[in-house]
Parts: sequence; C-alpha cells; structure tokens
Amino acid sequence: MSRKILVTSALPYANGAIHLGHLVEYIQTDIWVRFQKMAGNECWYVCADDTHGTPIMLRAEKEGITPEQLIARVHDEHARDFSGFHVGFDNYYTTHSDETRQCANDIYLKLRAAGLIETRTIEQYYDPVKQLFLPDRFIKGECPKCGAKDQYGDNCESCGAAYAPTDLKDPYSAVSGAKPELRNSEHYFFKLSDPRCETFLRRYTSRDNGVLQSEAANKMQEWLGAPGENKLTDWDISRDAPYFGFEIPDAPGKYFYVWLDAPIGYMGSFKNLCSKNGLDFNEYFRPDSTTELYHFIGKDILYFHALFWPAELAHAGFRTPTRIFAHGFLTVDGAKMSKSRGTFITAESYLKTGLNPEWLRYYYAAKLSATMEDIDLNLEDFCARVNSDLVGKYVNIASRSAGFISKRFAGQLAPAATDLPAIKAIQEAAGRVAELYEAREFGKAMREVMALTDAANQYVDSVKPWELAKQEGREIELHAACSNALNLFRLLTVLLKPILPVLAGKVEKFLNIAPLAWQDTQSLLAAGHGINAYEHLMTRIDAKLIEKLLEANKESLAPAQEQQSPQRHAEHQQNEAKAESPWEPFCNIDDFMKLDLRIARIANAEQVEGADKLVRLTLDLGNDETRNVFAGIKAAYDPAQLIGRLTVMVANLAPRKMKFGLSEGMVLAASDTTGSVPGLFLLSPDSGAQPGMRVK
Ligand code: 2FM
Ligand code: ZN
Repeated sequence: MSRKILVTSALPYANGAIHLGHLVEYIQTDIWVRFQKMAGNECWYVCADDTHGTPIMLRAEKEGITPEQLIARVHDEHARDFSGFHVGFDNYYTTHSDETRQCANDIYLKLRAAGLIETRTIEQYYDPVKQLFLPDRFIKGECPKCGAKDQYGDNCESCGAAYAPTDLKDPYSAVSGAKPELRNSEHYFFKLSDPRCETFLRRYTSRDNGVLQSEAANKMQEWLGAPGENKLTDWDISRDAPYFGFEIPDAPGKYFYVWLDAPIGYMGSFKNLCSKNGLDFNEYFRPDSTTELYHFIGKDILYFHALFWPAELAHAGFRTPTRIFAHGFLTVDGAKMSKSRGTFITAESYLKTGLNPEWLRYYYAAKLSATMEDIDLNLEDFCARVNSDLVGKYVNIASRSAGFISKRFAGQLAPAATDLPAIKAIQEAAGRVAELYEAREFGKAMREVMALTDAANQYVDSVKPWELAKQEGREIELHAACSNALNLFRLLTVLLKPILPVLAGKVEKFLNIAPLAWQDTQSLLAAGHGINAYEHLMTRIDAKLIEKLLEANKESLAPAQEQQSPQRHAEHQQNEAKAESPWEPFCNIDDFMKLDLRIARIANAEQVEGADKLVRLTLDLGNDETRNVFAGIKAAYDPAQLIGRLTVMVANLAPRKMKFGLSEGMVLAASDTTGSVPGLFLLSPDSGAQPGMRVK
C-alpha cells in the first residue's frame, strides 16, 4: 500500500549563501524523497527560507533595503542554488508568509490556553544608540576567563569558556560600538519544564519509541536528566521591537523569536502546497494522522527539533514527527570548511566553475550513513571515486555497447537473456538496495550498486562486443551481447536514479523509455525495442576544476556567512563559531608519530664562513652517532656557549645538501611569529634526559 509521507529539510537562514555544508542535508533528503517517489509512495518535500530575526533586520539596514527586499532576493538565490543541485522541493516557501503566521498564532494561542505560556521580566543588554535589545552574539567584550579581547557574549573563541553576556568585561555593542546598558523587559516563555512536557518528552524521545537515532536518544537523556531530575528549562520565545518577525497576539511590541516560527515554517510551507495542490493539510497534521512526517536536520539543531518542536506540537493538538533524522557536519580534506583555504565552497561557485552537481550528489551518497557522524569531502578522493565509479564503470557499460546497436541493428534490441547471472543479481539485489535507501544507508547502497556494476562490466569484458563486431557471422552474438549490456545498464540506472536524476533522465531519453520507477528493476526491455542514438552521458572530473574552485572561494569570502550565527541556540552557535579554528588543519597522532624527535648533545658548534645566519652544529645522538646540522641561529647564539648543552632535534628529517655541506636534521627553537618579541630560543630538555632519547 502506498504511504503518505511529508518530508522537510531545515530551513536555511535568509541572510547567507548556500554552501557545500548545507548541501549535505538537502542532497541527503532529496535522495530519500526521490527514492520514496520512485517506490510509488505519495511523498511531499517542503522547505522554506528562515527569514526572521535581528541579524536579517540589521543586514537589510546595512544594505539600505527593507528586510522584505532582502529576503526576496535571497529566496531567489537559494531557489537557484537548490535547483542547480537538483534538489526537487515540492514547495520552497518562506517563513514570512500568512500561512506561517496563522500556524504560529494558532500554536501559541493553544499553548497559552493549555497554561504553557508565562511571562517573566528579564534583564538584558540594550544598545542605547541603536535602541535595541542585543542578542548575545551582538555583544562583545573581554573574556571573563582568559581576558581575550573581542569575544562574543556567549562563549570565548580563544579559551572555549561559556558564560552569560553580563560576565564579559568592558562589553560593547557589535552593532554600534556603544556600551550596552542592562534593562528590564518582559519576555514570553514556553514552559518546557512543565511536568506535562517532561512526561511527554521522556516517552517521545526514549530509545524504544524509535523517533530518534540511538546517539540522539542518548543525548536526550542527558538533556532531560535522570528520572526525577527534570533538567528542562523554559524557553524564551519572545523578542522586543524593533524586530523583523511576527508580533505575538495580544502582546504589542513583542515578537516571536525566530526559532519559534522556524519549525512552524514547515507547516506554513506545506499549507501553502496544500492550497496549490488540493491536499488536505489536516490529514497530515491531526493528532491521529496515519501519514508520516520526517525532519532531516543537522545534529546541531537537535535540541529544537527533538524537544521544543514536538512538545509544542503535542500540546497544541497536532501530530508529532514520525522520525527525526540528524546528520553530521561536513569537513573538507579532513578539516572544518575554511575561508582562507578556499574550502568554504558556495553552491553558486561550484556550479559556476563548471562542476557537475551530480558528481557531488554521488560522492555525498557514497559517504552518507544513517548516523550523526561527520562526513569528509576529500577532494582527491572525490575526483578518483566519481571518475572511477560513474564514468569508468557505470557509463562505460552503455558507451561500449550502444554504438553497435545503432549502427549494426538499426537501433533495435535483441531479447534480453533473462537468466544472465549479472541481470539476475541486480533484480535480486533491488529489494536490499531499496531497504538501504529507506534506512538512509546510502553509502552501503552504493557499495552494493558498484559491486553489481563490476559484475555487469565483467559480463561485457567476457563477451567483448568490440571483437565480435570485427568478425563475420557473429552478428547474433554481437546483438545479444549489446542488448544484454543495455539491459544491465537500464537496471543499474534505476538503482542510481534517486542520486543521479538528471543522468537518469538522459538515459531514459537515450533508451527511449518512460521515467524509471523502482518496480522497473523487475522487468527487461522487450525484443525489438528501439533506442535513440547514444550521446555522451558524463565527463570525467578534471582536477584543474577543483583548483579553480578553491581559488574562486579564496577570493569570495562570503561575509554573509559570518552573519549567520547570531540567531542560533548557544550549542548551535558554538558549532558555527568554530567553523575555522586557527589550529587547523589538525595533525593526527599518526602524522605526529612520523616525526622522530630526539634529545641531542651539542658536541661542537662553530661559525660557518660566508654564511650570515648559520651555525654548524655537531650533534651527539648517543650510541656513537653524530649528525652535522646547519642551524639558522647565529644572530641569537654565540657558538661557544652552545657546546655541551642538550637540545631537541628532528632526527628523521631528510638530509639536505646546502652550499656549505650536508645538513642531517634540524634543531628546535621557539620564536614569536608576531614579531613583537625578537630572538630565537633553543629548546632544552629537563635535567636527566640523555642524548638519543625519543621525544613524544
Ligand atoms: O539552523 C538554521 O539554519 C535554522 N535556520 C534552521 C531552522 S530549521 C527549522 F526549524 F525550521
Ligand atoms: Zn577566554
């Protein structure tokens, strides 16, 4: 029986460009949705821009436009980028809509009627120049713990301490630079700590209930506290004017905080789709709905989606999500995306550089699983895998057989060999691959599909159409071989179609067939079926394009991205704020262990004639081993003073031929890279260390 499914991806903020990190989620969701549709389910995929909040208001002001103008422009940019990556929303809407406002008011009033809304006076920093209450991220000052300057109001990027904005020393407004004042203001709270919410959430988020991945369910237990220890805190859902958002009913000058109306934007977008498509909104949102609701999100916004959102829905008389699917973050070449390295790659730049979006869709699919683990886009592996799997293996099956069918058999196929092992293998695997798609184990699905592709290629290699074509009287065999190959190709195309929808469309055109659905894995093309001329389906990735892409992103530093964090929940902000650590790229322990650091005694030190900076050191490594090392320390040390002292050397540095002789290692010295403390400082071990000891 066909299922009715509503799917969402997190709503991106309307003040920044879509980048490859965002795309992990939209591609993951889109693949899942396309699979559901191919499997014959009624599946709707909605999303929207998340348009409210102080940062959007301030950004519009800075650009000299209204927030409405800003969000309209960004909506177009986002829609363009998503469609460029073939993310096939059924509706891409905006939270700044009548539907979202209606739903937000409705939910709020129902929660209020249930006694779950409360007002409280809170003390908050106010910018007297800008005349606005400042979100934590718009207050900067000195870290109360380490004294680092210009730290945000919620946590220090230098020492990692978390604190309240009122803890900052010498706070200033990041908007106007003014010294903020503490002022009282009345705020509206959703009483998440209410026993009704707690009881509901304990059950809803429990492992047994199966809504959350097990790692997420564990996290919830932490957030909820042990039974009897309610750790839930009430949620501040209002912000004071001036604010870009929806005014709270019966509360002039008070606005819903962006995170209140963001998930409600899922409903707003769906409501809008319902009015366009004649769907019944209530069928999907009434408490006893038999439809399924899935939210794909990043692991950083679990708190909102697994606690606030279901608690709001449940207590406002709506159904709750069937499952919440959280994924990990994207790293590029093993490190967080970095603007200085050019790995903070925007969707637009990827497409503009001429890279095929389906390359990335395939690579992400090959890396994705159902867990919250981070996924790494390794650019070298990206090229290698796409070129090998898609071009070298999959497309190769068609390109080696299509021409013969067109030229020698008037484009008509011979009957397929129903008992061919490679064909049977795909037909048998289709159910397993479907289960893997359903379970979001796309990486495992791709491994299975590539094994089937290898078997299909082995078949083509074994029948060698190119040799049959040269031999007289072997037409029937040639015809059968190429027809089987194209049948294999068609079956594999079904399995890959959720990931490669455009390529599959080209294949459907070339094979002259109706759009492929999952059940087509169980049929074969009929004898006499006519195909169209083969046109090249996919090119290989040229590594030069990747270099170009990195270059393009080094130039366009997308300052908009930096604006994105201010609206988020503290945990979320921290993730964002750490987007680029000065300590990256990290070296892992294996990298470190490659260095062989040893204690060495400076047995001799002398000037090097003709060299301005060098001192020649003879280093004693114990066991009668000595090394000759030229060290650039002449300005800091008199050679005579060095003789006899212990230091640390890199003992396995490749020997280097210099003008004055061979240098067989390097001694370690500290220096101040900012240049404010002159000089060089050779390292010395603590007393007791002996020449030859390993340093690690
Ligand atoms: O984290 C974000 O980018 C938010 N704009 C996500 C909102 S998702 C949902 F709640 F709408
Ligand atoms: Zn600090």
